[in-house]
Amino acid sequence: MTTTITQRFEAAKACLDAIDQGHVLKFYDELDESEQNNLLTEIEGIDWPEVAALVKSHVLSKPEFAVPDSIEPVPWYPYNETKEVRAKYIEARRVGEKLIKEGKVAAFTVAGGQGSRLGWDAPKGTFPATPIRKLPLFACFAEYIHNIQNRFGVTIPWYVMTSPLNHNDTVAFFDEHKCFGLDCKDIMFFPQAMFPALDMNTGKVLMAGKDAIALSPNGHGGSLKALYTSGALSDMHQRGITQLSYTQVDNPNVRMIDPLFLGLHELDKAEMSSKMLPKAYPKEKMGVICIVNGKTSVIEYTNLPDELAEERDDAGELVYKCGNTATHAIRIDFIEKLNTRPTETGSGGFALPWNRAEKKVACIDMESAEPIEPSTPNAIKLETFVFDALPLASASIVYETDRIDEFAPIKNADTPAGEEPAKDSAESSKRLQTERAARWLEANRVKIPRKDDGSVDAVIEIPQITAIYPDDLKGKKLPSKIEPGAEVLL
Ligand code: UTP
Repeated sequence: MTTTITQRFEAAKACLDAIDQGHVLKFYDELDESEQNNLLTEIEGIDWPEVAALVKSHVLSKPEFAVPDSIEPVPWYPYNETKEVRAKYIEARRVGEKLIKEGKVAAFTVAGGQGSRLGWDAPKGTFPATPIRKLPLFACFAEYIHNIQNRFGVTIPWYVMTSPLNHNDTVAFFDEHKCFGLDCKDIMFFPQAMFPALDMNTGKVLMAGKDAIALSPNGHGGSLKALYTSGALSDMHQRGITQLSYTQVDNPNVRMIDPLFLGLHELDKAEMSSKMLPKAYPKEKMGVICIVNGKTSVIEYTNLPDELAEERDDAGELVYKCGNTATHAIRIDFIEKLNTRPTETGSGGFALPWNRAEKKVACIDMESAEPIEPSTPNAIKLETFVFDALPLASASIVYETDRIDEFAPIKNADTPAGEEPAKDSAESSKRLQTERAARWLEANRVKIPRKDDGSVDAVIEIPQITAIYPDDLKGKKLPSKIEPGAEVLL
């Protein structure tokens, strides 16, 4: 029996009226049938009891962070191959390389965010990121995948999570660039779920138009469900993938597939693992990976008690220093298990905690239907975070990485030319990319010009298709030195 549009309307109205969100249908009678259909489809895609609960817990009141009973520092594998770890690293590299060669590893990029801080009017992955070629972020990752494919003689399937807001533009960008020379059938795009923005004073759902709710992506934590519901996980099973290498769209230097990290994760039978960067100072804006009530977890830097954030060991090192870089290795069967395990209501699934953020969200006035472009935050957006799945894993490892080698994120808009670059901006990222290239060249005996403050007095770019480690430059034709002020593309 098919449901008529009138029945759908009645069902939506009953559901919304019951939780005091009936205004969502206020302009319904003014819409044509296709607009009515779109609005009903949006309404049917939302878990309204969850919205009602979150209005109470996260909008009309603010959830208080309860300091856990037990917080301990997490052990980690060091970046430098000390005597103590050398044998294990040799084995881990062998295991990681074997996984890759056997085609058991896929790359996963979460690219569903709105990138509002950057202010780039297109999917963030299309942003020109490298210092000389201005290669878009997606193209940087494609070069990395080419390098791994050539190195190991294997196909690396690439899963890209988008959102309904940027899905079509993302797919069109890959089409336009012929998938950057990769085989398009090995790249799969899928959109994540959305969640309504809520008026920060009243908890009412904001409307983007008479026929549309103001929806935004539900956070990178949504990836763990979207991988399952989109069919990406089934695709991985068919391809024999067992491990997913999770990275963000904003870091052109990220090692998308790292044999050593994957090998350590596999050897220690971890379900979800993380790369960390030692925090530069106690209040650095990075979540801290630690052990909470016996489970590896991430605590937001604002929630870590000051005495712990500032605690130092005998060598003067921060005790809680493991900054989360948002790079994870995740077993496919862990994602499967999360999505199919029994819950209190009997259905399969899992829930990550929701986080509230005060944001400016464009919407319409519910009296006049006139558009509103707020100049100060008017809305609460709710998101889940992928790292909140860490405590659900039966085992987890943490591996240290190096800021210059692997961390040049682009999150913020550039400051005006001539000013110090903003942290995590395109300019700061370009400088880090140049610094990495310079170090790798210095390791290969190329003389690099440096200013008094130690920064590189040149702009240098090494395509990742050429090198993803300094040793990859061995045997390549390199200049003996780089002139001050030069632009050098290797
Ligand atoms: P950010 O936390 O930097 O958020 O995302 P953002 O939405 O991209 O940027 P702002 O805060 O609006 O400026 C970190 C990573 O998580 C992805 C992003 O695309 C980025 O790779 N992400 C974020 C999603 O895939 N979905 C989301 O809902 C949020």
